[in-house]
Order: sequence, then C-alpha cells, then structure tokens
Amino acid sequence: MASSSSFLRLILLFSLLFVIKAAKTASQRHRFTSIFSFGDSLADTGNYVLTNKTSRLGSLPYGETYFHRPSGRASNGRLVVDFVAEALGIPLLPPYLGSKNKVLTKGVNFAVSGATAVDVSFFIKKGFMYKTNLTLGVQLQWFQQLLPSLCGSPSNCKEFFKKSLFLVGEIGGNDYNHPFSQKRSVEEIRSIIPKVVHAISSAVNTLIGYGAVTLFVPGNLPIGCSAYYLTLHSSSNKVDYDTSGCLTSFNEFSKYHNNLLQKELKRLQVLHPNVTIIYGDYYNAAIDLYYSPSKLGFSKGGLRACCGGGGSYNFNTSALCGNPGFTVCEDPSSYVSWDGIHLTEAAYKWIANFLLQHSLLISKVTIVSSNNVSNI
Ligand SMILES: *[C@@H]1O[C@H](CO)[C@@H](O)[C@H](O)[C@H]1NC(C)=O
Ligand SMILES: *[C@@H]1O[C@H](CO)[C@@H](O)[C@H](O)[C@H]1NC(C)=O
Ligand SMILES: *[C@@H]1O[C@H](CO)[C@@H](O)[C@H](O)[C@H]1NC(C)=O
Ligand SMILES: *[C@@H]1O[C@H](CO)[C@@H](O)[C@H](O)[C@H]1NC(C)=O
Ligand SMILES: *[C@@H]1O[C@H](CO)[C@@H](O)[C@H](O)[C@H]1NC(C)=O
Repeated sequence: MASSSSFLRLILLFSLLFVIKAAKTASQRHRFTSIFSFGDSLADTGNYVLTNKTSRLGSLPYGETYFHRPSGRASNGRLVVDFVAEALGIPLLPPYLGSKNKVLTKGVNFAVSGATAVDVSFFIKKGFMYKTNLTLGVQLQWFQQLLPSLCGSPSNCKEFFKKSLFLVGEIGGNDYNHPFSQKRSVEEIRSIIPKVVHAISSAVNTLIGYGAVTLFVPGNLPIGCSAYYLTLHSSSNKVDYDTSGCLTSFNEFSKYHNNLLQKELKRLQVLHPNVTIIYGDYYNAAIDLYYSPSKLGFSKGGLRACCGGGGSYNFNTSALCGNPGFTVCEDPSSYVSWDGIHLTEAAYKWIANFLLQHSLLISKVTIVSSNNVSNI
C-alpha cells in the first residue's frame, strides 16, 4: 500500500496541474466537482459484469487487493480513473448501468470492458470479432439520456460541466485487439486506424458541444509489451523483438495510432480555443514500466503476468486469469501485468502519477490560444 506522503504528493501535483491549466485557459479557477468517464476495460468500474454475470471479471482474484471482492474492474485493484477521482476528492465513479435512480452529481462511469471506439456494424461487415456492442457511441447515448435528470436544460448543463472532468478513454485498443486475436495482418488492421481515431475525436467534439471544457484523452498502450500479444504473436525471429523483449511492430502500431490521435486532438484544440484538451500519454508511461521495471519497484519484471495459466509470459488463452487452470502470484504489486492484458493496480497507480507530472508539459503543446491552424 502506498505511503500517505506519496499520496499527498499526488494530490498536490494534480491540484497544481489543474489550477495552473484552469487559470491559463479560462482566467477562472476550475474546481472539479464531477468526472464523466468513457472507455473500455482500462476504465470500466463495473458496467461489463452487470451485462454478463458469468464474466471472469466478476470473480476473484479480480478485485482481491483493494476492494477484497470482485468490483467489476479488470485488475486486482484500482484503475487510473480511480486514482484520478481520489486525487480530486471525488468518490470512485459508479458504473452507469448500476446507477439507475441514483443521484449522479459527482459523475458516473460509462466505460465498458471490451468496448470499441467504432460501432460494431463495421466489425460485422469486416468479419472481425467483437466482445460487446456497448461501444463509445452507445456510451455517448447513455450520457445524452442522462442529461435531463442530471442537469436539466442545455444551458444549465453547460454551466454544470464547467466543473466536470471528462475522461475519454482509453478507447480504441479493442478495435485492434479483437482482429489481431484473429491473426489479421498488421497492414490490414493499420488501415482502420484513421477510422478509430475519427470515432474518438467525434466523441470529443460531441462532448464539447454539450459543454465539456476539460477533456483528458488517453492514447493506446505499447501492445507489443503485453503478455497477450507476446504469446499470440510470438516469433522465432529475434529481430522482431526490442532489447527489452517487446514486439517492435506492435509497438510501432500503437505509436502510429497515438500520433494520429494527437494530431486530431490538436486540430480540435484549435477549433475550440476555450476548451482544454489533454492527451494522456499512456504509451510512454507504460513503456518506462516495461523497460525498467525493477528500477521502478516492479521486481518481478514487466512482461510476465501475475495471474494466468502458464507459458513463458504466464498467459494462456485456455486458462485465462479467473478461468479454470489459472494461478495468481502472491505479490501483484511487484508485477506490471495483472492478467496479461490488463495491468496491476500498482502499475495503474504509477501511470496515474506519471500522467499528472507530464500532462503539464503536453498541455503546453496542445493548448493553443490562436485560431490559426498553421501555427501548430
Ligand atoms: C459472458 O462471458 C462469458 C465468459 O467470458 C462468455 O463466454 C460469454 O460469451 C459472455 N456472454 C455474452 C452475452 O457476451
Ligand atoms: C446489444 O446486443 C444485445 C444482445 O444481442 C441486444 O439485446 C441489445 O439491444 C444490443 N444493444 C445495442 C445498444 O445495440
Ligand atoms: C471564448 O471565450 C471568450 C471570452 O470569454 C469569448 O469572448 C469567446 O466568444 C469564446 N470563444 C468561443 C469559440 O467560444
Ligand atoms: C494452458 O492451459 C491448458 C489448460 O489448463 C493446459 O493444458 C496447458 O498445459 C497450458 N499451457 C501452458 C503452456 O502452460
Ligand atoms: C497564420 O499564421 C501564418 C504563419 O504564422 C501567417 O502567415 C498567416 O497570416 C496567419 N493567418 C491568419 C489568418 O492569421
């Protein structure tokens, strides 16, 4: 468990970050009183298990560390969204599907494990598999349906959202994970990246239309370092791996998605100078963990999963964490990877810290006060 002093530093950093940013962008101080979150299993705090009671995410060891019960999160404990909420003094976000008739003035979480950014009709047409039809578009519809009871008229909602932080993602990873699990080629899947990025940026645009003024939009993780990809796409050719043992072509794939996403966010920032759009650099946060795990306190290394069914990376599709045949490590906090796909609470906490320190720098690039696109 974290020392209270490092937690305090986290709070201070976060407060500082947003006070500075708010002062810069609106000459008016934001004090966030609510968070609205969209995304997939990296952000889901319980929606998916409410739609599927037999999901392994709904049983131990998921949730064993912090909640001491399965919480519907795809980790042993808390996620980045939880650490952000804690830092802002906002209660951990309830899942939207479990919040019927509840007062949601402190925000709610629409994220669903397995969700894609692009609508499922596209994947059906392509012959790609998918896990849930509760896509980013559906999550936005839930948000729209909530507005009358949450804040009333459009102008009241705009006022309300001035004090809201919008977390749009991580989302998009599954648009690639699912077809990659079917062994579709990197070239084929690369061609859908612009469509995925467009789905994310139109969601950002829609939220701005409803009055969102502070949006945090994470990129994709370095998938070439995940036990899942390392197992499914293992290669006998050494040149396919970098010096830390990650698959280079898959990390390049993530970088390409992230570059397009950042370009798109910069474009939106120019269109909406009064709004603050922050790119969340999950890639570089996680790459530090994968490349120097023991230096950063993850003594069991970055690539091998804590919970899984054996093999070089303790990842086995026939014995996934939570399914028959798995074993779980004794000390998840010394691992980066929880179940081969998702990260441990300790890793998410580290990433949250990283983002708080680096978003300040990134925001200098993305916050643009002029309307002149060619200045970027
Ligand atoms: C629910 O989860 C189980 C276990 O992962 C899976 O086999 C099943 O297809 C899921 N059901 C639905 C309706 O998605
Ligand atoms: C998702 O799929 C389920 C089951 O196939 C269906 O009942 C539901 O209406 C679909 N939801 C949406 C939003 O498409
Ligand atoms: C941005 O804010 C300024 C000052 O409040 C206002 O005059 C301007 O119309 C706003 N611009 C947009 C695009 O909303
Ligand atoms: C994967 O899991 C299956 C089912 O439990 C098991 O038979 C197999 O030996 C495992 N593979 C590895 C490499 O551990
Ligand atoms: C935009 O910036 C460029 C380069 O700084 C300048 O040449 C151009 O006149 C500017 N356009 C407008 C509309 O301000």
